[in-house]
Amino acid sequence: MAKRIFVIVLDSLGAGALPDAAEWGDTGTHTLRRISASPEFCIDNMRLLGLGNVDGQDFLGAVQCPLAATARLGELSKGKDTTIGHWELAGIISPRPLPTYPEGFPQEILDEFSARTGRGWLCNKPYSGTEVIKDYGEEQRRTGKYIVYTSADSVFQIAAHEELIPLEELYEACRIAREILQGEHAVGRVIARPYVGDAENGYTRTANRHDYSLMPPARSVLDAVKEAGLACISVGKINDIFAGSGVTESIPTKGNADGMRVALELSQRDFEGFCFVNLVDFDSQYGHRQDVDGYARAIAEFDRWLPKFLANMGEEDALIITADHGCDPGDDDTDHTREYVPLLMYGSRIAPVQLGTRKTFADVAATVAHWLGVDYDCVGTSLLKGGAVTDEQLVEMAREAMQRSYSPYSHCKVGAALLAADGRVFTGCNVENAAYSPTNCAERTSLFKAVSEGVTQFEAIAVVGGRDGVIDGIFAPCGVCRQALREFCDPDSFRVLMGSREGIESRLLGELLPLSFSGSDL
Ligand code: THU
Repeated sequence: MAKRIFVIVLDSLGAGALPDAAEWGDTGTHTLRRISASPEFCIDNMRLLGLGNVDGQDFLGAVQCPLAATARLGELSKGKDTTIGHWELAGIISPRPLPTYPEGFPQEILDEFSARTGRGWLCNKPYSGTEVIKDYGEEQRRTGKYIVYTSADSVFQIAAHEELIPLEELYEACRIAREILQGEHAVGRVIARPYVGDAENGYTRTANRHDYSLMPPARSVLDAVKEAGLACISVGKINDIFAGSGVTESIPTKGNADGMRVALELSQRDFEGFCFVNLVDFDSQYGHRQDVDGYARAIAEFDRWLPKFLANMGEEDALIITADHGCDPGDDDTDHTREYVPLLMYGSRIAPVQLGTRKTFADVAATVAHWLGVDYDCVGTSLLKGGAVTDEQLVEMAREAMQRSYSPYSHCKVGAALLAADGRVFTGCNVENAAYSPTNCAERTSLFKAVSEGVTQFEAIAVVGGRDGVIDGIFAPCGVCRQALREFCDPDSFRVLMGSREGIESRLLGELLPLSFSGSDL
């Protein structure tokens, strides 16, 4: 089975105000806490994964043994919009926010736009898309000028009547605007907004809207994954956000339900690489519309869907659930909010460690690259490296692996969890055989799984076992397993953790196998 990593972005699910939130007018905002007060809020599955274990989210109820690794990520970029948030998740830091134009676009931009398109402009203000055609449609009919407007977001929008200005000409005008709006004026998107109708019967916008996104200013992890010859699949608006850069396949969606359906389909598809999913409704339908109950209901729907997705995950899969910014639906405006984002990372190879609060979303990019074995340098650090698994957690993983013991002859169930130097954990159980001697011990199962995946550096192994799975005393590795471990592990630092009801007994491998024989003796 090929290695896959899924990153699902719950658009705008912030996890509390960042330390600099005051500079953005967002003091005290907390999207997740806000929606948790709604009677519609239900996140039983994400709570089991450990959403309440993420720093600052204990109001959700932390669980004792979360199933996922948990973290809270800060945003290094100066921004709180979708584009900058996703770029940082993909490894690109933006030192400046994308420009917005509450007073309209500067004269020199519009002069160049008029000169190059051969048409003048009307409006040039932040405006509602439906109001702007109502208020300027008639003037456009008379003058043939473009209706240029913006919003609170970093957008340059051009409305044009389809029968007055041919679609192709409008699209060409957008391409010209995209060329002009670079550098200091590099808006996130230029949007073609064609419409039809007349003053008497009213105007309506058509489905021929088209977005012209800004090229990411640097190489993202998407590019790195694609260059490595792996799949990089976009679900939803990811492809737009990266202007197609690094994407090998794009599946646009019509909102959350469709996005979850596509993600589920992809979880059943055999591919190697990265699947980047954006679920947009949280933000567009509920966050901006200040609809706390609607937001809570949408999260509950996602939570109900999640087990179906997890059930399709194989041994070589990882899932990261996170967000791109906040949009507290109960604060005093409809804008995004400058917040931390929560992160859950789940997979059978991923130790459910608490990774605390990290400084950048770019840890996601570093983790994607690390998981897939792709070269990619960015300011982020792989979450797989940062996770110091506690001895208790490693023993717990061994206990879980023990449940899968195949031991119909001895009825002695054994489980092991081997911690690799890169933070990954390989578990194993004993696998018996009717001919007895082909039996494999739990420790060697975990070791051979790791080595066969190219992993040969280890820090510790936890072992538990007992008749019928009842853990009485400690279970010490047999001599053959000690020798097998000695092949790869340093006797003076590799630790063997033997769990029992009383606690954990920890020994160095060298203590269990003194004066050992190894390759250096040959
Ligand atoms: N076993 C292990 O899994 N690990 C050891 O270190 C010693 C023994 C298993 C092998 C067999 O299935 C059962 O325990 C009884 O020997």
